[in-house]
Amino acid sequence: MNANEIKAYSNGKKNGVKVFVAGSYEALSKKAASIVAGAISKQPEFVLGLATGTSPLGLYSELANLNHEGRVDFAGVTTYNLDEYYPIDPANDQSYRYFMNKNLFNNVNIDMDKTHVLYGQAPDWKEECAKYDAEIEALGGIDLQVLGIGNNGHIGFNEPGNDFIWETHRVELTESTIEANSRLFNSADEVPRAALSMGIGNIMCAKQVVLVANGPKKAEAIKAALEGQITPWCQASILQLHPDVTFILDEDAASALEEYKAI
Ligand code: F6R
Repeated sequence: MNANEIKAYSNGKKNGVKVFVAGSYEALSKKAASIVAGAISKQPEFVLGLATGTSPLGLYSELANLNHEGRVDFAGVTTYNLDEYYPIDPANDQSYRYFMNKNLFNNVNIDMDKTHVLYGQAPDWKEECAKYDAEIEALGGIDLQVLGIGNNGHIGFNEPGNDFIWETHRVELTESTIEANSRLFNSADEVPRAALSMGIGNIMCAKQVVLVANGPKKAEAIKAALEGQITPWCQASILQLHPDVTFILDEDAASALEEYKAI
């Protein structure tokens, strides 16, 4: 594939997940940005669900470009992020609030008061989670949710396990996640032991979902999510039941797919 190319993939079934494979990370990011910007432009009072991590960085910088070119307006957009460490000071440069300000909110014409990230210093996490869910519901739900995917198929901080947890909740981080994330902190002791995360219900109730993934480490998770059984051991597999999901992948992330073929 050449770097600018985008191919549609299909598993031949009607109403399945829409899959696009891009020839480069830049093309993937531009495709995702055009879907998100197009949706916002159709509905100026828009509720946008957002993810952190490296996968959507290109999407966020593309959205900032489109905003500067006057092709998308964030003035009426309200955002809700998927997750945040707990406890963490939002001013800490490892917090997801800090990440969002730096990589998107400070770069577009959004009203900061309309941006929401779970508060990492909430005295009562149960109250914080319930308030988050109530606010989203009061706004009529999320119009479009942006997702990344973990190597183990997690979405948000919904890790593989026995259940799909529906509402926003507290997650105890596993030792392996603490270890993996310690590279970003001064030491493993500084990594928060828990996080607050939207649940699978918040994601499944979004009217539209756009998942971005790149790199070979995501290939097995993408295969399990799209072609595997629907199981909480691959949390993203539940997206097969959502009526409007688009996966935007690079060739590496798509490389293990067998049932989905370029059309
Ligand atoms: C982040 C989040 C996570 C990430 C996932 C992939 O808010 O919800 O589920 O999307 O861990 O992370 P990256 O993109 O860094 O590979």
